[in-house]
Amino acid sequence: MRTPVAGTAVLECRGLTAGYGGVPVVQDVDICVAAGEVVVLLGPNGAGKTTTLLTVAGDLPRIGGEILFDGESRRLPLYQRARRGLAFITEERSAFMSLTVRENLRLGRGGVDAALDLVPELAPLLDRRVGLLSGGEQQMLTVGRALAARPAVLLADELSLGLAPKILDRLLGLVRRAADDGVGVLMVEQQARKALRICDRGYVLSKGRVSMEGGAEDLLRRLPEIEAAYLSART
Ligand SMILES: Nc1ncnc2c1ncn2[C@@H]1O[C@H](COP(=O)(O)OP(=O)(O)OP(=O)(O)O)[C@@H](O)[C@H]1O
Ligand SMILES: [Mg+2]
Repeated sequence: MRTPVAGTAVLECRGLTAGYGGVPVVQDVDICVAAGEVVVLLGPNGAGKTTTLLTVAGDLPRIGGEILFDGESRRLPLYQRARRGLAFITEERSAFMSLTVRENLRLGRGGVDAALDLVPELAPLLDRRVGLLSGGEQQMLTVGRALAARPAVLLADELSLGLAPKILDRLLGLVRRAADDGVGVLMVEQQARKALRICDRGYVLSKGRVSMEGGAEDLLRRLPEIEAAYLSART
């Protein structure tokens, strides 16, 4: 039986089955994110975390189940979803490398000033081409640009990839603050301990299914058990 979900859910997956070429790699997944909540999706490599986010974002067609935004099922093209408040930060950090930081921010829906309010570190970098930024600076840009648009839902896949711990702390702080301002966040993060410290709740995916879920404190306590399962449960 599925748990009933509070009326404030901005994103809900019900019995989501997703995969590639009609072959499921994620099966019967129930996930719910309320406004103002940071929810982390944990799990070993190949568990299906990215596949889940891609499907929620509409970049992959779902095989079965439902994806609801604000309690309403939507199958919209990307530009319409963006207008309705879904931001997706992928592992690739999709900024335009040959354009400057300022130009990239202008192309975002939130504009330059809103991004600088949230991430003042970008101010001295405005006229630099993104291709010349460090990995951490690029990630600051993608997070600043995404949050400046005031999305209702933020999806983030591995903010920490290749970044120094201090930068990750800063990025997680930005995500937490955005949630405190009302954004619903679903993030995938390998740095489970750090993520759980700023999250409200989490789910553990193993072999494409939710194997554990709970409040952040509960999952922090069970982290040794979760990480041990990572080592034994490849795909
Ligand atoms: N384009 C694709 N075509 C077919 N199978 C794919 C494709 N992309 C991913 N897969 C498979 O789907 C499964 C889940 O992959 P996914 O990328 O969602 O895992 P993940 O949990 O994000 O892993 P990681 O922690 O390594 O990023 C894996 O077995 C992977 O090989
Ligand atoms: Mg992934």
